[in-house]
Amino acid sequence: MTTNHLDDPHTPVALAGSLTQLREFRSADGADAFAIVGDDKVTRHLSFDSRSRDDTQAMIDSAVERAKSRPRTEYYLGMTRLDDDRLIGFCRLGLSGVRAAKLGYAVAAAHWGNGYATDAVRTALAFAFGPLNLHRVTVAIGPDNPASQKVVEHLEFAREGVLRDHVYTNGDWRDSVLYSVLSDERSRRAHG
Ligand SMILES: CC(C)(COP(=O)(O)OP(=O)(O)OC[C@H]1O[C@@H](n2cnc3c(N)ncnc32)[C@H](O)[C@@H]1OP(=O)(O)O)[C@@H](O)C(=O)NCCC(=O)NCCS
Repeated sequence: MTTNHLDDPHTPVALAGSLTQLREFRSADGADAFAIVGDDKVTRHLSFDSRSRDDTQAMIDSAVERAKSRPRTEYYLGMTRLDDDRLIGFCRLGLSGVRAAKLGYAVAAAHWGNGYATDAVRTALAFAFGPLNLHRVTVAIGPDNPASQKVVEHLEFAREGVLRDHVYTNGDWRDSVLYSVLSDERSRRAHG
């Protein structure tokens, strides 16, 4: 039987890419997380409104607690640069259905445009299709979010269609463009 991180209660996740690392959150990340989820420039593209400092700390503490759940159905990971352990973003794989996950990510606005999201998502996909043995990863992106669409296009996700009024955020309904990538597509590309 394939072993994977779902069955492994003892491994804190730490994944290195070329530019970024994905690691477990810790409570001390609250202040840096506020620079991300407390910023309207970032959250206008997310499925929730900007958070207060207190709500951000509660969000991080809750993620730290959920990371201890077994079986683990969520990998909500902090993103850092390789040379600095402070949080510059996050990346989340929420497992649902059969060997499937929904992906989410964000980078603090001060760090946009450096390739960090593309690197971190590439790393998250290697984890998803490797140790987690997933088959399908999806991401739902707002139609007016070209930067995020660029990230997944770089990583050869396929555009599946539009989810109408998919999220209620910032006081209104918002469509999402659904993208997916499948495990066999990635292995074909890796060997092609
Ligand atoms: C989307 C987001 C994560 C990208 O982070 P990032 O680290 O800047 O991403 P990268 O640098 O890896 O790549 C961004 C790409 O978008 C491009 N881009 C940025 N702004 C753009 C715009 N307005 N129009 C078109 N392309 C744009 C960049 O040029 C880059 O493409 P390139 O590598 O071909 O030059 C970041 O903008 C963010 O956090 N946005 C708010 C939250 C969010 O949208 N999360 C995703 C929800 S699905």
